[in-house]
Amino acid sequence: MSAAPLAPLRLGIAGLGTVGIGVVKIVQRHADLLAARSGRPVVITAVSARDKTKNRDADLSNYAWEIDPVALATRDDVDVFIEVMGGHEGPARDATEAALKAGKDVVTANKALLAHHGQELAELAEGLGRTIRFEAAVAGGIPVIKALTEGLAGNAIRRVMGVMNGTCNYILTRMETAGLPYDTVFEEARQLGYLEADPNLDVGGIDAGHKLSILAAIAFGTKVSFDTVLLEGIGRISIDDIRRAGDMGYKIKLLGVAQMTGRGLEQRMTPCLVPEGSPLGQLQGGTNMVVIEGDSVGQIVLRGAGAGEGPTASAVMGDVMDLARGLRLPTFGQPASALADPVPAAVSAPAPYYLRLQLMDKPGALAKVATVLGEAGVSISRMRQYGHADASAPVLIVTHKTTPDAIDVAIAALPATHVVEGSPVALRIEEV
Ligand code: NAP
Ligand code: HSE
Repeated sequence: MSAAPLAPLRLGIAGLGTVGIGVVKIVQRHADLLAARSGRPVVITAVSARDKTKNRDADLSNYAWEIDPVALATRDDVDVFIEVMGGHEGPARDATEAALKAGKDVVTANKALLAHHGQELAELAEGLGRTIRFEAAVAGGIPVIKALTEGLAGNAIRRVMGVMNGTCNYILTRMETAGLPYDTVFEEARQLGYLEADPNLDVGGIDAGHKLSILAAIAFGTKVSFDTVLLEGIGRISIDDIRRAGDMGYKIKLLGVAQMTGRGLEQRMTPCLVPEGSPLGQLQGGTNMVVIEGDSVGQIVLRGAGAGEGPTASAVMGDVMDLARGLRLPTFGQPASALADPVPAAVSAPAPYYLRLQLMDKPGALAKVATVLGEAGVSISRMRQYGHADASAPVLIVTHKTTPDAIDVAIAALPATHVVEGSPVALRIEEV
């Protein structure tokens, strides 16, 4: 006697924008494939968005419409609540909590929600025997949550790093290839619709910081700690620095790095130099890349589209298919109640630094700079001075490994030498 077929998995989708409509299209286009792979039909029963009259590029006529996402989340004919509205408070949070309390599983693409409330939502879900999945929240179409939680579960993770905001990588690479200043390319990105409604989420490093904090929780078994991510955006990166860094063999990236050190958990999302020949250095345009280092696997590199309708909906559907197949895992790879309170590292690990300064052309000027660096404990590895017709010339210095504090001390002391014009630039060089 063959087993009775499994009941359909019924989806309720809150949010019919880029991601939500992408999910609708996959469910409609691949109904047979989804059913064959999961052993049961995967169907949409109800949807929600603010404006019912909007043209949405998909046929929604067979689905119930709820104007209130909380009402959608608690409907009897919804098994999985898909939250693709965005925002870390208000409807996204309320509806997610309501869905869990009503016995639904949740799939979300919302990194802000998880970065701010991941721990309490995970505790709520696990206490109720429910599951929250969020593959789309980090690096769009790249299955990095699955890689860390499942494929690499046998590894102690040493370091997770990557380029996790496509808009910033687009801006930095476009500045380089077109030789355009930051403000011009920022405006271009706005015209192309790449920027979030609040652009500071992108260029201020916040969106990427949200993603890094989620990866760090899984990698190191700690509670999500977005507040302790060291954040700096790309606003101070000039076309000069991109060119000069290139002359020294580097690219500038908004790079996230999370590692557990003897001093505690280090989480940084800051502009860094990486070797131009490295996978991260070669990453162009809006693409994302996540590099994971495990004690057994070594280094693996995942690369792909970090945003957009298809890639993000692909990640949401990966989570839906896990639920359809009955795969249930703790939210962050181990029970939420067992996640440790992270001890944030007070200072970042030592690293080489790139310094750019405008040095006056007079006897002893370079010696004075070298003295200031030496007194701060900063040792020079390489240096380059450019030919010039003015009273000052750009000088680039690559240091040996040093601490951020030593660099700060040196930078603060340089004006007193009276041989440096303007503000020197210091950027960390990440060893990748
Ligand atoms: P979006 O295009 O702006 O769409 C948001 C949708 O949510 C809209 O349909 C909107 O309704 C609906 N919505 C907003 N507030 C609502 C409310 N109070 N009640 C009901 N519906 C509401 O956003 P998106 O780009 O799809 O992003 C959705 C989520 O995915 C966000 O958390 C985002 O960070 C994440 N994400 C997006 C991408 C991407 O490439 N876009 C990638 C990774 C993750 P109306 O259409 O009626 O205004
Ligand atoms: N604003 C984000 C980016 C969208 O540019 O990568 C995907 O999270």
